[in-house]
Amino acid sequence: MKVILLGSGGREAALAWKISQSPECEQLYIAPGNGGTAAFGTNVAINPSDFASIETFIRTNGVTLLVVGNEDPLVAGIRDYFAKALPELLIVGPAADGAALEGSKDFAKHFMMRHGIPTAAYRSFTAETVEQGCEFLASLKAPYVLKADGLAAGKGVLIINDLAEAQQSLREMLGGMFGQASATVVVEEFLDGIECSVFVLTDGTGEYRILPVAKDYKRIGEGDTGLNTGGMGAVSPVPFADDEFMKKVEERIVRPTVNGLIADKIDYRGFIFLGLIKVGDEPMVIEYNVRMGDPETEAVMLRVKSDLLPLLEATAKGSLGDMPLEIDPRTVVTVMAVSGGYPGSYPKGMTMTGLDKVCDSVLFHAGTAVNPDGSLVTAGGRVIAASSYGESIADAATRSFKAVQTIEYDGKYYRRDIGRDLIALL
Ligand code: AMP
Ligand code: GLY
Repeated sequence: MKVILLGSGGREAALAWKISQSPECEQLYIAPGNGGTAAFGTNVAINPSDFASIETFIRTNGVTLLVVGNEDPLVAGIRDYFAKALPELLIVGPAADGAALEGSKDFAKHFMMRHGIPTAAYRSFTAETVEQGCEFLASLKAPYVLKADGLAAGKGVLIINDLAEAQQSLREMLGGMFGQASATVVVEEFLDGIECSVFVLTDGTGEYRILPVAKDYKRIGEGDTGLNTGGMGAVSPVPFADDEFMKKVEERIVRPTVNGLIADKIDYRGFIFLGLIKVGDEPMVIEYNVRMGDPETEAVMLRVKSDLLPLLEATAKGSLGDMPLEIDPRTVVTVMAVSGGYPGSYPKGMTMTGLDKVCDSVLFHAGTAVNPDGSLVTAGGRVIAASSYGESIADAATRSFKAVQTIEYDGKYYRRDIGRDLIALL
């Protein structure tokens, strides 16, 4: 099978690593990929949002399966585009109606309410209803959670302790703080608990497979302090997401979600990412995403023992049926090395060395590029992830820390506490 994977992050590197191991993978293209993905296939310099160029490439090269790594093309309707342009193309990723689960928080909240899926109480407001929004905020307890309805590059959620400040932020969001994305704002109840990410593959017929659960580390600083990032590390499995918890997740969230999509006549074939929070012992949904998580994928892919490609093909065809999904019981810890200054401004083009000395870990490039002279350089905020197996979180983390220490470039930073909170809970 000839496959094209869209995206350029560590997530796509991990998907490419896994897909390329399949005996059924004849050719893998990654568009655009990064400085490391060419090890698993062929990088193609096409922007994932340029549907016409992707179409030309697919036609010219006889590609039969399209796997969409990032959310933007899905929310922009890449499946809808190809349903018309190339109806025989198999696609992993929902059409725009399903992608609205991530593209519109207001839509996602309505969906959860309609299908009885546990989530924080909320109301949505627009510029016309800003005064009611301020009154609603006054009726809630601090902290206050304000969410831009649309995609805002992961920056659209504000959590504010002071009521007057929250009211002011609501006005600013509705006034265009995130452009069109905050023309509607969801105000919701704050949930206190610990978060984890659950990934589901579903094929549009009601069949689904639950992939390994993971926890990511969003803040830049150790002890979960400082600014939010795209993700500084991940651990899978998550000890607090035990069998009893996962049973509740499946019964109260996964099944109602998959069945809700069918009831709403949304033909959803792809990944569903459930951003969950454990409040007391109960799972609740913080958000849906319509793709895999990054850096969770860099951990999760190491734990998928089954060949992923037939599962992706079946997802796209609607034939998951009783296809097995075998999971590796070992723990995996992923540690992300980032550029100095990230998530603020940071330099690019720093020469990277030492990768060839890493032996106990799998490396997934994120923000890297290869110079014309063949040297590897940094090219983004999140630079490279090291993922390692272990008998325990501490064991796997030790290996990933060692790998990240072995890699050298100016300004390298990583969190040395990935997994520590989970160990403390044991
Ligand atoms: P989101 O973009 O929806 O994932 O939100 C970003 C982050 O904000 C989440 O990962 C949570 O840590 C936090 N968050 C969002 N909604 C809530 C909520 N209702 N209560 C507590 N924390 C939240
Ligand atoms: N790690 C969270 C995300 O991918 O959105």
